[in-house]
Amino acid sequence: MFSSLMGWVDARFPATKMWEEHLSKYYAPKNFNFWYFFGSLALLVLVLQIVTGIFLTMHYKPDAALAFASVEYIMRDVEWGWLIRYLHSTGASAFFIVIYLHMFRGLIYGSYKQPRELVWLFGMFLYMALMAEAFMGYLLPWGQMSFWGAQVIISLFGAIPFIGDQLALWIRGDFVVADATLNRFFAFHVIAVPLVILGLVVAHIIALHEVGSNNPDGVEIKKLKDKNGIPLDGIPFHPYYSVKDIVGVTVFLFIFSLVLFYAPEMDGWFLEHANFVPANPLKTPLHIAPVWYFTPFYAILRAVPSIAGSSFPGVVAMGLSIVFLFLLPWLDRSPVKSIRYRGNYFRIALVLFVISFVGLGFLGTQPVTDLYTILARVFSIIYFAFFVLMPIYTKLDKDKPVPERVTFK
Ligand code: HEM
Repeated sequence: MFSSLMGWVDARFPATKMWEEHLSKYYAPKNFNFWYFFGSLALLVLVLQIVTGIFLTMHYKPDAALAFASVEYIMRDVEWGWLIRYLHSTGASAFFIVIYLHMFRGLIYGSYKQPRELVWLFGMFLYMALMAEAFMGYLLPWGQMSFWGAQVIISLFGAIPFIGDQLALWIRGDFVVADATLNRFFAFHVIAVPLVILGLVVAHIIALHEVGSNNPDGVEIKKLKDKNGIPLDGIPFHPYYSVKDIVGVTVFLFIFSLVLFYAPEMDGWFLEHANFVPANPLKTPLHIAPVWYFTPFYAILRAVPSIAGSSFPGVVAMGLSIVFLFLLPWLDRSPVKSIRYRGNYFRIALVLFVISFVGLGFLGTQPVTDLYTILARVFSIIYFAFFVLMPIYTKLDKDKPVPERVTFK
């Protein structure tokens, strides 16, 4: 019965063809390791955010006079409302943890390199869309940090010469962050940006399946095929990796639940303390800082000295810090993909880059002091040097020979 039903469907819609192309006959390298869990985990968290977001929207009120109270109502009165809200707010931080690890995997195994440049570019657009999504979502509870965080970030657009003031006004829809801002951020957060994210995820995976996955050895498995055209080092994604990914999902859900039930706000790291105070346009908080996943870029912004009172140079530096990530496939000149066979220059550069990124992330959460400003400048220089000098040190590097086949025990 099932096969005749599938025959009927397949004559009208390529269901079996798609199943085979992307799952049962998608040959993935057999040496995937820990780092390859994070793509499927990102998909899982994306679904979690959409489902919990739908339920939050049923009770939330996108109105400056009602928003804060509606979130408290969700937390206290809606059945399981606290769980839905914490799943969503903790889920946002989990999303960024998963994505940062996913991107780091790309760095260590050179997954951005030819022929996966588009996979990387779609990924980078996804990263930007996720940042926009998280930024706009954070305004919705209309707490002190929602309000002042948005106020600070939107004012940055005001630093752009000539058009800045008009642009900031256009984004806010008012002279300060206000009801109009909340309404449009709500529209973007619940429908516009999620649609973009879903479309980009589809493009990301289609691009990946067109060229095939990279792996911890950075060996192209399509180069060696058996007489049926199946890569010698490939195994069907389903059932091998669909089952393996269940292990990753289980461990992830275990850790996620621990955080969710015991420290959902992570002592102010996932939901800042000041956000439990309603937004007050007349009272600026002493210390305004974005949530942890934005702080590396915020630290770069603050590290660059302003010129004639304008923070434009900092805004440019912050923009460039993201632009360089897009350019990675063309900055890296080494013929070798995986860190396993890379020379020491790249390895040292990567370690310094990670230290500076994490260091900037920490500094971005802290109030400005002289020492911290100096540190932020040093880390920012290292951050940019990683990219700017990359064409040189990856070319000079003494890479090791790459094996013909993947290594797998
Ligand atoms: C919503 C966000 C994202 C989702 C759902 C997602 C999903 C996935 C999935 C399912 C895979 C295949 C499994 C794997 O290799 O882990 C993958 C691969 C990949 N992703 Fe993402 N991704 C996202 C964001 C990103 C971002 C932000 C980047 C980097 C800028 C990125 C870069 C890559 C690369 C380079 C690969 C190929 C890796 C390889 O073959 O070694 N992705 N992604």
